[in-house]
Amino acid sequence: MSLICLSSPKGGVGKTTLTANLAFAFQRLGLPVTVIDFDVQNALRLHFGLPLGDARGYVALAEQHRDWKRLVVPTASGIRLLPYGVADDAQRLAFEARLGEDPLFLTEALQTLLAIPHMVVLADTPPGPSPALNALNRIADLRVAVLLADAASAALVPQIEQGLFFSAQQARSHLPVGYVLNQVDRRRRLNLDTTEFLQARLGDSLLGLVHRDEALAEALASQLPIFAFDPTSAAAYDIDRIAQRLAQQIESLKRPPYGQRQLR
Ligand SMILES: Nc1ncnc2c1ncn2[C@@H]1O[C@H](COP(=O)(O)OP(=O)(O)O)[C@@H](O)[C@H]1O
Ligand SMILES: [Mg+2]
Repeated sequence: MSLICLSSPKGGVGKTTLTANLAFAFQRLGLPVTVIDFDVQNALRLHFGLPLGDARGYVALAEQHRDWKRLVVPTASGIRLLPYGVADDAQRLAFEARLGEDPLFLTEALQTLLAIPHMVVLADTPPGPSPALNALNRIADLRVAVLLADAASAALVPQIEQGLFFSAQQARSHLPVGYVLNQVDRRRRLNLDTTEFLQARLGDSLLGLVHRDEALAEALASQLPIFAFDPTSAAAYDIDRIAQRLAQQIESLKRPPYGQRQLR
């Protein structure tokens, strides 16, 4: 029963791709997994074989169903999916207001799911600050920031470290942020330099690197986990290692049962 939140100041850095494939990696470790999409783009579901026209989602129904377990969409993989779904502006704004105003909203919504023994819940977020990220930061067990091995990402690290990205919650929280550096390509000079700089700068808080690997995009196009599409790919190896590292961190958390936790 752990909640892991993936986020990034930037879009297009691989949050959704990593959320989905980390979910498959945790499942390979024998853990039950739930993934939740907090991004209106509603793209996470595509990694789990939902057809484009499938409008199902929890956001439009979150008011009526306080327990989101009842809104879970089962997937062929066995991973439980909460797709963002199709929501109109009014539904989206009401959902965001609720996330922002009611500190118990998310806790209650996830309580039953997180009570399942060993459950790992992975939350995919929209780029940058958002009501979802604020709410997740209050109750997440682990926070993962995804960066690219480029100068623009490197320039954002001080901002993240100062708490400007994770906002007030980070200042109050003792929770460290773990970083994943995505799209590493050592054949490109600037990419290599940035990777080495960030490795030195981030030290132990760098959870791992994911190499730039077309197999990830091809796996999505084939609607397969990277571990089924190309188990010997660099990306499969990288993502598996990061999942193992996160699993170790979950083990060492030894936090009180979810329902008995105090909100940060
Ligand atoms: N390690 C990688 N190697 C190659 N392509 C990647 C890698 N990670 C992500 N991508 C591609 O980058 C694009 C953006 O990824 P996505 O997961 O949608 O990012 P985000 O959720 O942060 O917006 C997608 O086309 C995805 O296939
Ligand atoms: Mg995304």
